[in-house]
Amino acid sequence: MLSNLITRLDAAVQLGDAAAITARIKRELENAIHARGVTLPERFHRTRADGYARRLLHRSDTLGYTAVVMTWAPGQRTPLHDHAGIWCVEGVVEGRMDVTQYDLVEESSDSYRFEEKGCVHAAVGSAGCLIPPFEYHILANAIDRPSITLHVYGGEMSSCHVFEPLGDGRYVRRERALAYHE
Ligand SMILES: [Fe+2]
Repeated sequence: MLSNLITRLDAAVQLGDAAAITARIKRELENAIHARGVTLPERFHRTRADGYARRLLHRSDTLGYTAVVMTWAPGQRTPLHDHAGIWCVEGVVEGRMDVTQYDLVEESSDSYRFEEKGCVHAAVGSAGCLIPPFEYHILANAIDRPSITLHVYGGEMSSCHVFEPLGDGRYVRRERALAYHE
């Protein structure tokens, strides 16, 4: 049941520090998905042609966290992006995702350099944590069917930075506003 998961998330975000919170949420998400406790209403299954869909599942104003569902058509992916300094736990509810992590290794006034830290093939029921300053990655649907992911954020991510490759190993940073789809 979704309400059961929300109750458990409420308890987890009160643990104090980001490491403890994200470790607990990772466990709760993995358990809930394995126990088929994440059943999403039909609208969360709908993909969008113009890019991955991003829909709000739950917002706790008192505890200051949000749960967001993303729905990925085949071939859809994010650019390299940060998480605006907000911790996050991301779990695969359906399908399979490729998650490629990056470390920021150099920052100058007009460009950035990253080191790729490897790619994780995330199957249904697996979840990963992102704790700033280690908050750079690319998410991509790994299969030729839709995939669905559930993201729990320690706040509301209304914008983040995306990094566009210049082709010579450097990236430029752009601010991207993030909204929820229908
Ligand atoms: Fe992300």
